[in-house]
Amino acid sequence: MKSARAVAHTNIALVKYWGKRESSPADLNLPAVGSLSLTLDRLRSETTVAPADQDSFHLNQEPASGEVAAKVLRHLDRVWQAAGHAGARPTCEVRSHNYLPTAAGLASSASGFAALTLAAAAAFEYDPGRPALSALARRGSGSAARSLWGGFVRLDRGVLPDGSDCRAYPLQPQSFWDVRLLIVHTEKGPKAIGSTAGMQRSRDTSPYYGPWVDTSEADLAAAEAALAARDLPVLGDILEHSCFKMHACMMASRPPIVYWRGATLDVIHAVWRLRAEGLRGYVTSDAGPHVKVLCAEDQAEELAVRLRAVPGVHAVDVVGPGPDPTVEVSA
Ligand code: PMV
Repeated sequence: MKSARAVAHTNIALVKYWGKRESSPADLNLPAVGSLSLTLDRLRSETTVAPADQDSFHLNQEPASGEVAAKVLRHLDRVWQAAGHAGARPTCEVRSHNYLPTAAGLASSASGFAALTLAAAAAFEYDPGRPALSALARRGSGSAARSLWGGFVRLDRGVLPDGSDCRAYPLQPQSFWDVRLLIVHTEKGPKAIGSTAGMQRSRDTSPYYGPWVDTSEADLAAAEAALAARDLPVLGDILEHSCFKMHACMMASRPPIVYWRGATLDVIHAVWRLRAEGLRGYVTSDAGPHVKVLCAEDQAEELAVRLRAVPGVHAVDVVGPGPDPTVEVSA
């Protein structure tokens, strides 16, 4: 094997993924719905996979153990198996660094598993092309499948039981539309529940899960058309609808899944108030209390200043569309 280093940028879904299809084995990790995302500039994971005497995983320069390290090593096994090499996987040293906002709370699994997949595949001299690597990254984390490209990306739900058609592809490149995403960090409480367990609970108990799944393809088609037309108000309307529909599905689970805090709602209302004043921002939010706001480049700074003034807001990061991942191999 070789030594390889990959850099992949994180992404935020504009049309959300929540819920998994039945699959065998379960770790095929097949989403019940397709999704559409924006890859972000600056916010990234850098991961190196190198041959070593024993397996190890360092995250942000600290040795990791337990389930965190086990998930990474299991993913190395998947990449090795996919590569079809004979024999046992060589032992590896994996080092990963996340360049994500210091206020934290932004999931690193998308960029992390994308970078790990790319670095491991290159280290194992496996090059099936980015679509197949996207399907492999999906098995580490659904959202990671989308971080295989910069710009605007779609992850298809797919129909095949082996998941080979459940992979992402680029819709529009980084340069297509100079929008901004504001990441509004609000106060954190204990996390309600991890995404995998939360998705399972919604599927098993939420009366809104069926309608959520049934209506998502229409949202995707509408969002794709609005994106192609660079129509911010129409895309903004769809992204808010997808976000609130996902959170409604979560909240109607038993027991309820509520990721929002008081400040989350205060920010959402502030964005809507500012919109009525002509600052056109559109909100979305994931499995946590932070709010992300999509807006035009020329209104981003003004919106950021106004949102920093909302009580409970710790920080606002302003980020643009991000690039494709990169991979470097050394002997
Ligand atoms: O793939 P995961 O486990 O990071 O789940 C992602 C779930 C959401 O962030 C809530 C939505 C999305 O599409 O990214």
